[in-house]
Amino acid sequence: MTGNATPAPSAAAPPSRLERIRAPVRGRLSGVDAEIRRIVLSDFDMIAEVNDALDRMQGKLFRPTLLLLVNEAGGNPHEDAISLAAVVELVHLATLVHDDAVDHSVLRRGLPTVNHLWSHQVAIIAGDYLYTRAMVELGRIGRIEPIRALARAANAMTVGEFRQLTSRDALDFGEEDYTNLIAAKTASLMSAACEIGALVGAEEYREDFRAFGHALGMAFQVADDLLDYEGKEELTGKPTGHDLRERKVTLPLIHAFREGDEAEREVIRDFFTLAEPDDEQISRVISIVAGRGGLEYARAEARRYATSAEDALARAGGDSRALDALRAAIDYAVERRR
Ligand code: IPE
Ligand code: IPE
Ligand code: MG
Ligand code: MG
Repeated sequence: MTGNATPAPSAAAPPSRLERIRAPVRGRLSGVDAEIRRIVLSDFDMIAEVNDALDRMQGKLFRPTLLLLVNEAGGNPHEDAISLAAVVELVHLATLVHDDAVDHSVLRRGLPTVNHLWSHQVAIIAGDYLYTRAMVELGRIGRIEPIRALARAANAMTVGEFRQLTSRDALDFGEEDYTNLIAAKTASLMSAACEIGALVGAEEYREDFRAFGHALGMAFQVADDLLDYEGKEELTGKPTGHDLRERKVTLPLIHAFREGDEAEREVIRDFFTLAEPDDEQISRVISIVAGRGGLEYARAEARRYATSAEDALARAGGDSRALDALRAAIDYAVERRR
């Protein structure tokens, strides 16, 4: 489901940052990819077609990487971590399939989305299929604590998607609302991934890794919202400027709206009355956001979450190679370009 998920770096190119983070768990990540294929396999034509389309999309496998690194950091890795990492990635993939339908997005991981290739109906059913296959697998593994952690996260994510819906066209959506939103839709799953890695590794560090995953997830989503302003589509594989086009209020805009003068606030208010803003109207808002330091503000917030992730990691003990990779994952979450 992740295509050529963990290719060995070619002799010519230096390993990317992500490849270096994955290095301690490279072999197990290939196992995750095989597990994902096994879990979603279906001989029903329509499902098989959607599976094939998703299989061509290459994601970063960031959550399985975290789960496996935490599992190794405990110094007592368990084989179940591989299937659990596949389950976590499938929950993530299910939410992406649903999220793209909700967001009317046509591009994901550089390829057309399920809602674009088929329809909203297919995206809803396909997301449910992936999610429920993941639940069946979780039942097969039969460990109650990972079930608890993941059920809580999956439920929080649906609340997050509801919060996101209310952030549309809502200029009274403030920083606290935003914090609650990203905690629910993104940090919940990363925190569960890390907690589960500890649960089947070194349980004594469960709380530290849970806190680490939460802070990392917060930084990751602030960075994602920044990438929507200043990212390159050929790297992110998602349309840049899409949040504004969908009139989604994220941290850079919240800051600019707070700091702007009356004329700027008026431009932003008018923008949020438009049914379909054009490129020029979007550019105007982007330049107000940039001019009022919205991007710097969000970057500083992402770094603040990163520091809190570092603190949580410092409290957790374990294997230093995996911990080094987890430390690199914090920098990656903030500074990533994809
Ligand atoms: C996208 O997650 C959704 C967010 C939480 C921002 P990723 O950036 O991890 O997406 P993939 O799996 O690599 O495509
Ligand atoms: C994250 O929010 C989505 C989920 C956690 C499901 P976004 O809507 O910003 O994610 P992208 O940008 O579509 O990947
Ligand atoms: Mg989206
Ligand atoms: Mg986004």
